[in-house]
Amino acid sequence: MSPRYLVSFDSRKAIHRFTDVLVIGAGIAGLRAALEVPPDLDVLVVTKDRITESNSSYAQGGIASVLSKDDTFRNHVEDTLVAGDGLCDPEVVEMVVREAPAEIEKLVNWGTRFDLENGSLALTREGGHSHRRIVHALGDGTGHEVMRAIIERAKAAENVTLWDDTFTLDLLTADGACVGAVCWRPGITKELVWAKQVVLASGGCGMVYRETTNPPVATGDGMAAAYRAGAELRDMEFMQFHPTILYVAGSARYLISEAARGEGAYLRDVHGERFMLADDPRHELAPRDVVARAIFRTMERTQHPNVYLDLSHIPRETVLSRFPGINKVCKGFGLDITKDRIPVRPGAHYMMGGATVDADGRTTLPNLWAAGEVTSSGLHGANRLASNSLIEGLVYGARCGRGAAEAAAKMPTTLAALPLRHAVADPIADPLDVADVTNSLRALMVRKMGIVRDRTRLDEARTDVDFWCRYVLAREFKDRAGWELQNLLTVARLMIESAVRRTESRGTHFRSDFPARDDAGWGRRHVVCPAV
Ligand code: SIN
Repeated sequence: MSPRYLVSFDSRKAIHRFTDVLVIGAGIAGLRAALEVPPDLDVLVVTKDRITESNSSYAQGGIASVLSKDDTFRNHVEDTLVAGDGLCDPEVVEMVVREAPAEIEKLVNWGTRFDLENGSLALTREGGHSHRRIVHALGDGTGHEVMRAIIERAKAAENVTLWDDTFTLDLLTADGACVGAVCWRPGITKELVWAKQVVLASGGCGMVYRETTNPPVATGDGMAAAYRAGAELRDMEFMQFHPTILYVAGSARYLISEAARGEGAYLRDVHGERFMLADDPRHELAPRDVVARAIFRTMERTQHPNVYLDLSHIPRETVLSRFPGINKVCKGFGLDITKDRIPVRPGAHYMMGGATVDADGRTTLPNLWAAGEVTSSGLHGANRLASNSLIEGLVYGARCGRGAAEAAAKMPTTLAALPLRHAVADPIADPLDVADVTNSLRALMVRKMGIVRDRTRLDEARTDVDFWCRYVLAREFKDRAGWELQNLLTVARLMIESAVRRTESRGTHFRSDFPARDDAGWGRRHVVCPAV
C-alpha cells in the first residue's frame, strides 16, 4: 500500500546538489554527526523547519552520565536494563554508558553551560535511576542550552552547510543502496541531493498522538522514508508515554519534567492521596511505564481527567531555581508551582522503535546511517530510561559521523546524478481536508493505541488507519502538511501492526488481554518487513 516515493521527480529535469555526507535532521544526533566529519569532506545538514526547532531543543530534564564518585558504569547499565524490561541489547548499553562521560566533556569544551554546584557539574535524579547522574542546564532548559552550543559550533565549521526549511521527501536508492534524497526547498521546490553517505537523524513521531510533549515537527518523516526505501524498522509498538504533561485547557500539553519528581515532588489523585506509595516500592521514581500506567488507572478509578503534581513541600528557592521554565509556563495559567498542585496526565513522549542500526549506526540499507530517536539501537529496549536519549544522540551521532566519513572517503572523488525518476500513478486530485484527517488520526491513536491496549481496539484502529491510507497515500501533495500526514499514517500503521502482533505486556506496551510478560514467546524484537 505504501508508494515507493511520495512525489514524482525526474533526474533529467531536476536541480542537483552534491555532497560527501548528507545529514537529515538538525537535532543533537544530526549535528553531532556533522561535527565528527573531518574538514576535508563536505557535509550538508538539512532540516524541515528552523534549525532551533528540534525535539532535542525542548529537552528539560538533562543528560544521564556516570560522573560522581559514588556512581559506577555498572549502576547506569543496570538501571537502563531494568527500565528496558528485557529488550535492551546489553552490549549497546555498556558501550553508550562508557562513552557518555567523554561526550559530556566535549559539550563542556564546546561551551555548554551546565548547571554547577560547588564548582562541579550539578547532578539530579529521575525515575529509574539509582544514583544522581543527570546533568542539566538553565534549570529545566537543558536542550535549549546544549543545542545553542552545538548549533554555534556547527555554524562555525567550514565544511558544514546548514539548510533549514528543507523537507526531505524521500531517500533516493539505486542498486539496493542509498544515494541521496529528494528534498523540497522553498522557492526551488524539488531538489535532488546526491551523497556518498547519508545519515538519518530526523527524530521521532510523537505527533501521531493528540496528547504529546513533542513539538509539531515530530511527524515520523525519517522512519516513514526509511521504510519506503527498504530499510528495516523494529520495535514500532514501543511508544513511551511521559507520566506528567500539563493538563489545563488551552495549554499545548507542556512537559513537566521528571526532574521535578527527582527533586522530591509527589503525585496525588484528585482527593489528595499519594497513590504511588501503594503502587510501587520506588514510589514516584519508578520507571516511566510504571508511573504512566498507575496514573492511567488512578484517572479511571477516580473518574477524573488528570492527577496532580505537588511541589509545595520542596523549599521555594529550590523549586524556582531548578524549574524556571515550568514556573513561567504554569504562571501563565495562574498556577504558583511552589504552592498549587499542577494538573498533569501522561502523553506520548519518546519512540523507542525505528530504523534498525548496528553499534556504529549502520542501517540495513547500504550507505544509510542513522542516529537518535529515528532508530532502534537496542539501548532503550521496551522502555527508555529517563535522560538516556540525548546521550544516545551524542554517542550514536559521533559514531555515525565517523563511520559515514570513513566510508565516503573511500568512494570515488566525484559524484554524478543517476538516471532516476518516479511518477505517482493516477494521483487522486480531489481536495482533501488534511487537518481533519490528521486530527482524526491523532485522536484515534490516543483512544485505541494508547497506554492500555487490547485486540478489539487495535483491530478498530487498524481498520480506520488502513481506510485513511487508501485515499491519502494515493495522492501527490504539494505541501508539508500533506507529506507529514502521509508519514504519520505510514508510521501509525506500522505501530498498530506491531502492537497487534506482540501478544504480551512489556515496558511501554501494555495489552490488557495479555497482561503478563512472556519471555518464551516474546523475549525478542519485532522486526517490520521492509516495504521494498
Ligand atoms: C524530562 O525532563 O522529564 C524528560 C527527560 C527525558 O525524557 O529523558
